[in-house]
Amino acid sequence: MHAAAQQNGRILLVDDEAAILRTFRYCLEDVGYQVATASTARQAEALLQRQVFDLCLLDLRLGEDNGLDVLAQMRVQAPWMRVVIVTAHSAVDTAVDAIQAGAADYLVKPCSPEQLRMAAAKQLEVRQLSARLEALEGEVRKRKQDLDSNNPAMMAILETARQVAATDANILILGESGTGKGELAHAIHAWSKRAPKSCITINCPSLTAELMESELFGHSRGAFTGASESTLGRVNQADGGTLFLDEIGDFPLLLQPKLLRFIQDKEYERVGDPVTRQADVRILAATNRNLDDRVKEGDFREDLLYRLNVITLTVPPLRERSEDLLLLAERFLAQFVKEYARPARGFSDDARAALLDYRWPGNIRELRNVIERASIICPQEWVDVSHLGLGAQPAGNGPQVGGAMSLEALEKAHIGAVLANSETLDQAAKTLGIDASTLYRKRKQLDL
Ligand SMILES: Nc1ncnc2c1ncn2[C@@H]1O[C@H](COP(=O)(O)OP(=O)(O)OP(=O)(O)O)[C@@H](O)[C@H]1O
Ligand SMILES: [Mg+2]
Repeated sequence: MHAAAQQNGRILLVDDEAAILRTFRYCLEDVGYQVATASTARQAEALLQRQVFDLCLLDLRLGEDNGLDVLAQMRVQAPWMRVVIVTAHSAVDTAVDAIQAGAADYLVKPCSPEQLRMAAAKQLEVRQLSARLEALEGEVRKRKQDLDSNNPAMMAILETARQVAATDANILILGESGTGKGELAHAIHAWSKRAPKSCITINCPSLTAELMESELFGHSRGAFTGASESTLGRVNQADGGTLFLDEIGDFPLLLQPKLLRFIQDKEYERVGDPVTRQADVRILAATNRNLDDRVKEGDFREDLLYRLNVITLTVPPLRERSEDLLLLAERFLAQFVKEYARPARGFSDDARAALLDYRWPGNIRELRNVIERASIICPQEWVDVSHLGLGAQPAGNGPQVGGAMSLEALEKAHIGAVLANSETLDQAAKTLGIDASTLYRKRKQLDL
C-alpha cells in the first residue's frame, strides 16, 4: 500500500525526448495515474482516437511537428482534455501563445517531481469538476424532459401524478420492473411543495427487519451490539420532505405494524430509545409485485396496503408505449455517445423497426442498457440492428475480456448477461458465485 492516496486520471505524455517521457511516466504512475506516451504528433493522434484522456502534457518542440498545430488538433479531437505545455525556459513565449490557443497551463523544464504532480493534480481536479458539472446539468435537463410522453395512458398518469403531487396523499406506484416507477416517484417529489426538502429512498428488500427498523427510525447508542453511535434514521432525514419506499412488496412483515403506525400517526421511536418522536413525511411507495396476492399469501398486511394506496398510479410497460419508444431511444443514444465520445448519431431504418418490434421485458431500463451497449460498439454514424443485439446475448462484438473498457463496464455487462440467461435471481447469484443480496445490491448499483 502506498502511503499517499492513489490518484485517478488518464494522462497522455507527448515529447520527442525518450528520457523525459520515461522520467515523467515513472513520476506520475508512481502516484497511481494511468499514463500513455507518444513521441510524435502522429502517435499522439492515434492514441487519442483509441482512448479518452483527461490530461495531456505536451512538449511544443516536437522535432518535425509544430506543437501549436498539434495543440489545435487536440482541441478539436478531445475538447474535454486539459493540455499543459511543457517548455524549456528559453521558449516561454511560445507557451503563452499556446495558452491563448487553449492550453490550460504551462510547466517549465526542468521541473521537480512535486511540480509535475502538482500541475497534473490541479488540471485533473478541474477536469473532474467540469465532468461533474456536465453530469449534473445533464441530469437537470434529463429530469425536465424525461417524463413527457405521447402515449395516452402514460399522459393520463402523468396528469394525475402532477395533480396529486400538490397534496400530501400517499401514492402507490405500480408497474413492471424498469418502467420508470423510481423516476416517477422522484418527479412527484419535485412537483410537490416539499421539493426544497429531501426525498429519501429506502430499498425495502435489501435489509432484515431489525436493520430496517434502525435504518428507518434510527437507534440510540448501545441499542444493540455494534450500535456504537446514535443515528437519526431515514424518517428523520425525510422530515418535511418525502420518503420513498421502493419495492414495498418486500417490506419485512415483522416491521409492517411499526410502519403502519408511523403512516397513521406520524409518530415513531428510535430503537432502544423510548422517546416518541414526530416527523412530517409524505410517503410514496412502489413495487412490481402484485400486492393483492402478497396480502392473500399473508406476506403483506391489508391495513398497510390501504394506507399506502390512497392513490394508485400504474405505469404502462414500454411495449405499450410505442409512441415514446424511438424518442427515448434517441435521447439515450445522444446521452451515451456524448458520455463515451462515440460516433453514432442515429438509427438505421432497420434498427428502428427492430426496436419497435421487440417486447422489452426489462422495459426502459433494458432499452437504456441496449442503447448504451450499441453506442459503445457502433463504429459509425448509424446504429444498425447488429449493434442492438436484441434477444441475443452479445457475442463477438460485445464487451470483451482484455478490451479497452473499465472493470465496472465489464462487470456490468457480465452480470447483465448472466441475469438475462437465468430464470431467477438466486440462480444468477449461484452462477456468479455471490450472495443473492450482493447481487441485488449490485443490480441496483449498476442500474441493471
Ligand atoms: N422517462 C424516462 N426517461 C428516461 N429514462 C428513464 C425514464 N424512465 C425510466 N428511465 C430510466 O430507466 C431505468 C429504470 O427506471 P426506474 O428505476 O425508475 O424503474 P423502476 O420501475 O423503478 O424499476 P424496478 O421495478 O426494477 O425498480 C433508470 O435508469 C431510469 O433512469
Ligand atoms: Mg425502482
